[in-house]
Amino acid sequence: MADNLKLLILAVFAVVHVLADPYNCAGTQTINPPANINNSWNYPDTYNSSQNTAPQYAANQNCSWIINVPKGMFAYFTLKVDTNNEPVLTLIDSVSYTTVITSASPFFLLDPLFRVDLQATKIGSLGMTVTWYKVNPAFPNTVQVHSNGSPLMIFAPDFDNGTVIQSDTRVNLLALPPTMIAPDVSPFMRNTQIYDGPNIDSTHLGNLYQVLTYGKSLVSTGKYLTIYSLFPGFGTIENSVIVQDYFDVKDFKSYKAINCISLLTQCQFSLDARQGTAAAIRYYPTPMFIKDVSMPQTNVLSVYTSFVTPAHKLVDYT
Ligand SMILES: *[C@@H]1O[C@H](CO)[C@@H](O)[C@H](O)[C@H]1NC(C)=O
Ligand SMILES: *[C@@H]1O[C@H](CO)[C@@H](O)[C@H](O)[C@H]1NC(C)=O
Ligand SMILES: *[C@@H]1O[C@H](CO)[C@@H](O)[C@H](O)[C@H]1NC(C)=O
Ligand SMILES: *[C@@H]1O[C@H](CO)[C@@H](O)[C@H](O)[C@H]1NC(C)=O
Repeated sequence: MADNLKLLILAVFAVVHVLADPYNCAGTQTINPPANINNSWNYPDTYNSSQNTAPQYAANQNCSWIINVPKGMFAYFTLKVDTNNEPVLTLIDSVSYTTVITSASPFFLLDPLFRVDLQATKIGSLGMTVTWYKVNPAFPNTVQVHSNGSPLMIFAPDFDNGTVIQSDTRVNLLALPPTMIAPDVSPFMRNTQIYDGPNIDSTHLGNLYQVLTYGKSLVSTGKYLTIYSLFPGFGTIENSVIVQDYFDVKDFKSYKAINCISLLTQCQFSLDARQGTAAAIRYYPTPMFIKDVSMPQTNVLSVYTSFVTPAHKLVDYT
């Protein structure tokens, strides 16, 4: 009898849990950091990030959260979400970069604000957490790239203190993914910010994950770029960048890094030379072998080492 009672009580609890009403969030909410930034903001307020599942939201509602990030701070935004694979949840950051979110992913966001929009047609689940932090002062190293000079490879641990890249003309930057590929930790590259000048007070251009996702190079407007990670320590995911003077690559209509840094990754890449010369770079201390080339007979594939001049050409494939 006592055992039956226990079972019955457990069953009732379970039912209460499952039947919790989906929440309504319709409208726009503006969120400011709490007076004590040791406290996070959770939405809905019954949710916190140690819960395994997020609360359900109701269908047919449009919800927006505008989250303010004061100058000198950054926001760490995490979420648990199930939108039934519908592209209904978007995040727009302070440089107007839009990310469609379909699964849990970390974001590192700078001032003045970011915005999360949900256009729910079906029921789904969403729980969000924002924690604000002060941006630590950077103590950057400066590295130089020169026109008619070799590219430089810089690894993520160097972004913990900050790295300033000084060029003769403009800085050309290519992003490479982490060498750790399972699980996919590349979204943590959002931790690393890029500024269009010689320090972190320069114009914020976005983060390294955005450069990686674009799949093309980022070019400074002036002679400097600064790279800085908001949280130190994420360099262990072992991502890197290739920097060059823009003078050396400006004639390429398309330019990208070859993602061939892990034994597990496929080293295949494609170049689209329909608009003009297309180029790709691989930077690694071990030899590289071209195993297979497929291209129209009118094309020429030239391989150079270190630098693109006739003296550095190794071979032409036709
Ligand atoms: C916030 O946390 C830090 C580190 O735990 C502590 O030193 C500080 O006193 C806390 N601030 C407030 C306002 O509680
Ligand atoms: C998070 O939520 C769970 C379940 O509601 C609760 O047990 C736990 O104490 C909460 N943790 C924090 C840090 O609020
Ligand atoms: C949500 O916004 C979209 C786009 O503006 C609109 O088409 C739709 O009717 C809105 N839905 C609701 C429930 O307000
Ligand atoms: C960052 O700067 C500190 C202080 O100058 C130094 O001790 C540390 O080694 C630097 N870290 C890296 C990764 O360069």
